[in-house]
This record gives sequence, C-alpha cells and structure tokens, in this order.
Amino acid sequence: MDAYLEASLLPKDPVLDEIAAVSAREGLLPHAVTPLQAAFLALLIRMTGTKRVLEIGCLGGYSAVAMARVLPDDGRLITTEIDTRTAGVAQSNIDASGFGDRIELRVGPAIEVFDAEIAAGSTFDLVFIDADKVNHKTYLECALKLSKPGTVIVADNVVRGGGVLDAESQDNSIKGIRELMAFAQTLEGVDMTALQTVGAKGYDGMAFFRVVG
Ligand code: DHB
Ligand code: MG
Repeated sequence: MDAYLEASLLPKDPVLDEIAAVSAREGLLPHAVTPLQAAFLALLIRMTGTKRVLEIGCLGGYSAVAMARVLPDDGRLITTEIDTRTAGVAQSNIDASGFGDRIELRVGPAIEVFDAEIAAGSTFDLVFIDADKVNHKTYLECALKLSKPGTVIVADNVVRGGGVLDAESQDNSIKGIRELMAFAQTLEGVDMTALQTVGAKGYDGMAFFRVVG
C-alpha cells in the first residue's frame, strides 16, 4: 500500500532514495520515517510557515533533509545524533543532498543539545522528536521550553503495535511513551492529538502538540 500511495502521490525523489540506500548499505537501523511520512512532515512545515526546526534523532539524515529542503532560504534545521558512526553517515548524506547549508548536525546526547538551546534562549517553530523512546517525555518537556505560541511538536512512535496499551510492560520504550502520555495529560494551553499509522513500518503512530498562541 505504501508503494501504491508513493507512486500515486509523491514525485520521484532521487535525493531521499539515495539517503535510504546509503543508510541501508551502512547498516543503520531501519527506523527512518517512510517517504509518505517524510512528505507529511514537509507538508506540516509548509502549512505552519516554519523557519526553524529542531530534530531529535537524526539517524541517516532522511527526515532532516526531507524537512530542510522545504524550508525558506533563510530556514535552519538543527538535528541531533548520539552515535558517532551513524552521525558520520548522516553528515555525508546531508552534504551529498545539497541542503547541508541549512542543516546543523550536533553529535551527542539530545539532552545536551536541549540544554544548550534552552540556555541560549532559542525557540523553534517545529520540533520532531524521533530518538530513544526512553526519554520521550523528557524530550517533549524540553521541546516545550523551546516553544513559542504556534510551535508544533511531533513525537514519533507513540503506538508501537499497540504495545503502549500495556500498563505493566517492562519494556523501557513502552514505559517512556506512557510517561509522555501521562505528562501530556497535565499540559494546559497545548492542542494535542495523535494519529495511528499502518504501512511499511508496521502499526505505529505520531502524536502532535501545538502551543496555543
Ligand atoms: C524504532 C524507533 C523509531 O524511531 C521508529 O520510527 C521505529 C522503531 C525502534 O527503536 O524500535
Ligand atoms: Mg521513529
């Protein structure tokens, strides 16, 4: 079904195809967003007039390039990657994409990047949280500190095949997502929803937050 929708709706995309191919050849985890999901993130960026993006969890740079290339010329995207070898592959993919001038890859724990940006008083228009799920709630909390009215935060992988329903789960990722949901319940002044997804990456979902202006 993904292939059919991609063929029907998405233009040929040699840039993202190459990033996917290199990432697979280099043995990176197959956790990048799908082409259809990447197109959705790009759509969100254009709908919101986003100029500044923070991505948590770069992997091979697939989503970073998909988002950065639809930014206006003065738009910027910061992305984080904790694994140095993965970051090397990502930087090379980013450079090859032709959008490297808009993308800043920070190698290290996401929390350090958050701390630095919070200390600097930065704000972002869109934050895409797609790193380890153990710290999903902490990343949302930090993203809110970097938000202003209208900021959109997207959190990937909040369904995980329905595994998130298991309140007794000992899986640290499931626990992390449930912590994010419990935290979300306490938020005021934030529009929120989640969409469940099926497709090439199985059954999962994304949560969406928008700070009310
Ligand atoms: C996993 C992580 C992801 O970001 C994703 O989109 C799918 C799976 C994982 O860690 O299993
Ligand atoms: Mg993900």
